[in-house]
Amino acid sequence: MRAIVQTGYGAPERVLRIEEIDVPAIGPDEVLVRVRATSVNTPDWATVAGEPSILRLGAGPRRPRRRIRGSDVAGVVEAVGAGVAGLAPGDEVFGSAQGTFAEYAAAPAARLVKKPAGLTFTDAAASVMAGLTALAAMRDVAHVSAGTRVLVNGASGGVGTMAVQIAKALGAEVTAVCGPGNAELVRSLGADHVVDYTSEDFTRSGPRFDAVLDNVLNHPPKATARLLAPGGVLMPNSIGNTGGLLAGLPRTARAALMANVRLVRPAYDRENLTALLELLGTGKVRVVVDKAYPLDHAASAVAHMLGHHARGKIVITA
Ligand SMILES: NC(=O)c1ccc[n+]([C@@H]2O[C@H](COP(=O)([O-])OP(=O)(O)OC[C@H]3O[C@@H](n4cnc5c(N)ncnc54)[C@H](OP(=O)(O)O)[C@@H]3O)[C@@H](O)[C@H]2O)c1
Repeated sequence: MRAIVQTGYGAPERVLRIEEIDVPAIGPDEVLVRVRATSVNTPDWATVAGEPSILRLGAGPRRPRRRIRGSDVAGVVEAVGAGVAGLAPGDEVFGSAQGTFAEYAAAPAARLVKKPAGLTFTDAAASVMAGLTALAAMRDVAHVSAGTRVLVNGASGGVGTMAVQIAKALGAEVTAVCGPGNAELVRSLGADHVVDYTSEDFTRSGPRFDAVLDNVLNHPPKATARLLAPGGVLMPNSIGNTGGLLAGLPRTARAALMANVRLVRPAYDRENLTALLELLGTGKVRVVVDKAYPLDHAASAVAHMLGHHARGKIVITA
């Protein structure tokens, strides 16, 4: 099969190349998926760039031991392990796997659900990590309900576009922070108020939010926490942009020690994928795709996300 193999750390065009390799073997609880679409997420660009560089200690000092990036997957079941029930060859599925920048990927059956015919492979793949992160933030951490006042920083990216819509679907009043070119987009997703970060510092607007999802972490968490109404929660949700030994990690670590801070830890399981599907099915949440690249242009897809101005999700089709 063709797969995008990482040969070192650095610029995507330099360290990602397409190779012919063996189709992965599957274990008893796994499913072999013929990948039709996958998408780019922060762990992908961060591992390609090798940033923050301290992460190389765990991933592999000169190149990552896991050579193929990608975790979101939408595709067609090719084969199932002996212990897998409920899925069969030919089923269209989506969910989470490892090494999805390839024509085939092995996925734990517990991390896949059947894809409805009305949902495209592109949208399904794009929804997984971004959607489950946004769902965990709004439903499980912020416990959003009617009237909850939510601010989303980085509202026009992959996680942000899902977070704005999921918060709205749960009844929130949403303030979205984005650049001037994306104000219309986030309004169309339901944002009640839009802050253009090039002309206004949202951290100066006073304590009036019950929940703040910070996908950018470009302000000190202490400053962002001043936005919180009593009992409010700050969700710092970023490793910071590329650069430096630790990049944004010290900021996240400091924030994690604050009393009103909760980290977002989505579970990539059937239950959450089904909840996400239900939201997509209501029509209240849609997947925003910036651009889809063919597999042999995966390096350009990762470089696009490394620009940190994706409008929604970046997809790779195989
Ligand atoms: N907790 C988890 O398990 C988990 C899972 C996935 C992702 N994450 C985190 O979630 C964060 C967002 O991920 P993502 O996939 O949404 O990233 P992304 O798609 O690359 O985000 C791009 C967006 O960031 C916005 N942005 C850039 N600079 C900004 C600024 N100064 N102020 C406000 N917005 C700015 C851009 O808006 P404009 O173009 O309008 O400027 C763009 O729309 C990442 O930091 C990632 O680490 C966490």
